[in-house]
Amino acid sequence: MQARSISDIMRELESLVSIELYATRAIRGESLLVSALREGQLNIYLYSDGTLTRVNRGIVSNYTVKTYNPSRVVIARDVAKGRELHKLYIVDLDEPGVEKPVEDMEPLRVLGLVDTGDMIVFSGATMQGNGLYITDGSETRKVKDLPGFAMVTDSDGRHAVGVGALDPLQPSMFQLFLVDLETGDMKVHKPREGSVFHARITSRGIVYVNARSEDSKLMLLDPGSMEARELELPYSDLSEYKPVMITYLDEAPDGRLVVVAGRDGRSRVFVDGKSIPGPEGLYASALLDGDRVIATYTSLRTPTRVIEISSGETRVVLAGRTPDWLEQALSGIDYVYVDSFDGERVPTFILYSGRTGRPGPTVVLVHGGPFAADMDAWSVMAASLAILGFHVVMPNYRGSVGYGERWRNKIIGDVCGGELEDVVSAARWASDNGVANRLYIMGYSYGGFMTMCALTRKPGVFKAGVAGASVVDWVEMYELSDAAFRSFIDMLFPGMKEERKTRSPISYVDNLQEPLCIIHPQNDSRTPLKPVLRFMMEALEKGKRYEAHIIPDMGHAVNTVDDIVKILLPAILFLKRLEESQEG
Ligand code: 4NP
Repeated sequence: MQARSISDIMRELESLVSIELYATRAIRGESLLVSALREGQLNIYLYSDGTLTRVNRGIVSNYTVKTYNPSRVVIARDVAKGRELHKLYIVDLDEPGVEKPVEDMEPLRVLGLVDTGDMIVFSGATMQGNGLYITDGSETRKVKDLPGFAMVTDSDGRHAVGVGALDPLQPSMFQLFLVDLETGDMKVHKPREGSVFHARITSRGIVYVNARSEDSKLMLLDPGSMEARELELPYSDLSEYKPVMITYLDEAPDGRLVVVAGRDGRSRVFVDGKSIPGPEGLYASALLDGDRVIATYTSLRTPTRVIEISSGETRVVLAGRTPDWLEQALSGIDYVYVDSFDGERVPTFILYSGRTGRPGPTVVLVHGGPFAADMDAWSVMAASLAILGFHVVMPNYRGSVGYGERWRNKIIGDVCGGELEDVVSAARWASDNGVANRLYIMGYSYGGFMTMCALTRKPGVFKAGVAGASVVDWVEMYELSDAAFRSFIDMLFPGMKEERKTRSPISYVDNLQEPLCIIHPQNDSRTPLKPVLRFMMEALEKGKRYEAHIIPDMGHAVNTVDDIVKILLPAILFLKRLEESQEG
C-alpha cells in the first residue's frame, strides 16, 4: 500500500463523501424534481434553467411525489433522534421550503408512502401493529391492520395496492393486497409462482412485477376476479430480453409504460417494451419528456447522476464533480461467479483499488438487507475502501435480490448458514485468484451480522472485521422490534424458534479470535444496540480484543454526510492501523 498520512486520507475521504449524487423523480412543466445528496444531506430540489431550488427544509427520511406534474411533495421525517418514528410533512411546490406537518398522526415507522394528489396513503408500524392509513393532511385515519411484513405501493384514492409477506405459511412469497379505502375490505392475490413486487395502478389496470425462480414478468391483474395474466406491450424487446429483475415501473401521462429491467447487477430502460440504448451500468428511475428519456444512472465508478437519452445520444443533465484522482484510485471492475460449498455459484462484484498491487489487501464488503444486492452502482463505502488501498469484493450471497426468487429464497430458514458459506467462498476466491493477500470483512446491518457470523463461526478466514449496526442476537432483537420487523424475523426463521438462538453470534463469543471493530448507532431501532452491549460485555469478560464506537443521536438510517463519516471513519482508521501492522 502506498504510504499516505492520516491527514491525506482524511482530505480524500472528505472529498469522496462530498461528491454530489443526483436522482430524478418527477417532471413538472419545465422543471425536473430531483433528490440529491448535496449541502451535507439528502435533499429534494426543483431544477430548471440550471438553478436548483430546495424543496425541503429538514432531514428527508423518505418521500413521495407524483412522477408527472406534481403539485406537492410529501416527506416522512424521523422525529425520534434516529429511532425511525416518522411524521409526514407536505410541501406545496409553489412554495418550496414551506413544510406543513400532518398534525394528528402518531409517529410510526413509515414503510410505504403514496400521494394521489388529494390524499396521502401510507403504511407503517408501531410496537403494536402494522397498519394502512389515509390522510388529507388534517384528518388521519387507520383503514386497515396489515398482516405480516407489508407496505402500500400505490393508490388512486379509492383503492390502495401493496405487497407483503402476508401468509406465515408461505414466508418466502410476497403477495399483492388490494384494499378498498372506504370500507377497509382487503383482497389478496397470490401469484401462481414466485413473488409480487412494485404493484401499481395504471390506466391499463393493476400492473405488477412477478419475480419468479429465474426471471421477472409484468402481469396485469383483474381486480374483480383477482386473477392475473401476462401484460402485453407494444414492443417485444423487454420480453425477449428475459429480465431477471424489474426494479422500476411507472406510467407516463400518455399511457406509455416505463420499466427498468436487468440482470447481473446491470439494467436498462424500456419504454412500452422497447429497449432504450444507454451507457452500461444501473438505472434507478426514468421519466419521459416527449421523445427524451430522463434517467438516473450509476455504475461502481460513476457517482449517481441524471442523464438524458434522446435519439440514441446521451447527455449529462446533473452530476457531481469528481476529484481528478478518483478514476485512477478506482482502477477497475470485475464480475465473477464464485463456486460455493454446495455447487451454487455466487455472483460477486470486485472493485479494484489502483493504490495497491495484485494481490493486495482486500475487504470483503457484505451488503445488508438481506433482500438487497451489490450492483454496478456507486457505493461510497466501496469507493472509500478502494481509495484507502483495499480491493473490495462484494458477494451477492444467497438471499440477495436481482437473481430470481430461487436465489432470494435460499436464505429463508438458513440464516448464518449457506449465505455465510457464500461470503467465505468469495473471500477464498479472492485469495486463490491473485486478488487478495490479506482478507478483511466489513458490513452494515445484515452485512454487520455477516461480519459477526464470519468471526465467530469461521475464525481464521479473515484478519479482522468491522461490524456496523450488526445483529448479534435474534432472540433479544425480536423482543425489541416493532410489529413489521417482528414479522420480518418470523419470515427469516419460519417456525424456527430455537434457531434464533443457535444462529446468533452471541452464542459463539468464545470462538472470537480476530480483532473486531464494532460501530453502532445508539438509537438504532432496527438492529438495537442493547444486544450488542451484552455481546461486548461477554467478549470483555472472555478477554477478546475489540473496539467499539457508539454513535449518539443517530439511528439505523444514514441520511447525512456526517452520518456517513461517523460510520466510515472508525472503520477506515481501524483497517489502516491493522494493515500497517501487517506490512514490512
Ligand atoms: P438491514 O438488516 O436490512 O440490512 O438493515 C436487518 C435489519 C433488521 C432485520 C433484518 C435485517 N430484522 O429482521 O429485524
